[in-house]
Amino acid sequence: MLIVIENLLSAEEVTRFRQHLDQAQWEAGSHSAGEVARAVKSNLQLPDEGELAIALGNHLLRALAQHPQFVSAALPKTIYPPKFNRYADGGHYGVHVDSAVMQLPGRRDSLRTDLSATVFLSAPEDYDGGELMIEGQFGAQAVKLNAGDMVLYPSSSLHQVLPVTEGARVCSFFWIQSLVRDDSQRELLYDLDQSIQALRAAGGTPHDEISRLTGIYHNLLRQWVET
Ligand code: NI
Repeated sequence: MLIVIENLLSAEEVTRFRQHLDQAQWEAGSHSAGEVARAVKSNLQLPDEGELAIALGNHLLRALAQHPQFVSAALPKTIYPPKFNRYADGGHYGVHVDSAVMQLPGRRDSLRTDLSATVFLSAPEDYDGGELMIEGQFGAQAVKLNAGDMVLYPSSSLHQVLPVTEGARVCSFFWIQSLVRDDSQRELLYDLDQSIQALRAAGGTPHDEISRLTGIYHNLLRQWVET
């Protein structure tokens, strides 16, 4: 399932991100791709260990931690430090699947990629092309979101970024190891949680019934969680 999270970053935050990113020194993205991916990857990336990537990445991590919809959808155990890329002048990334295991920078442990995330930092009208095409159960979906919005999708999905033929597409991207490994279990928990939140907000449902549903949520999570 694709999950779109709107307004992860405010318009002011996006403007500040872009002021920094538009002056940054980018490097060829093919440096960081595996052997198979290198053949299909043509974009620019911000050096991961640079001060700017670290500062903006930490800002994003704080925004994610405070976003209830993200926490509910991803049930994050570990989040890879956010990376940044830029596609222009026909830049693209052909069909691939993200690596299953990523070494965490500067650490001994690694992360299993359960979910992939892209945060859009360019307005859709500022570039042509650049759709993120994600293949799922119901065919391929084209994703091109407003600046500040994010898409989450299973890392097992085949996906690609179509060529950017005009303007520039700047994004952040990263991976998440979830407390719940199985996509369908995680999706059930997300749907249940969203319904409980909606009932709570609407009012009129007896408190005991909401507590019972919340109990079911936690008891399912208890069965499926890996800590
Ligand atoms: Ni990818």
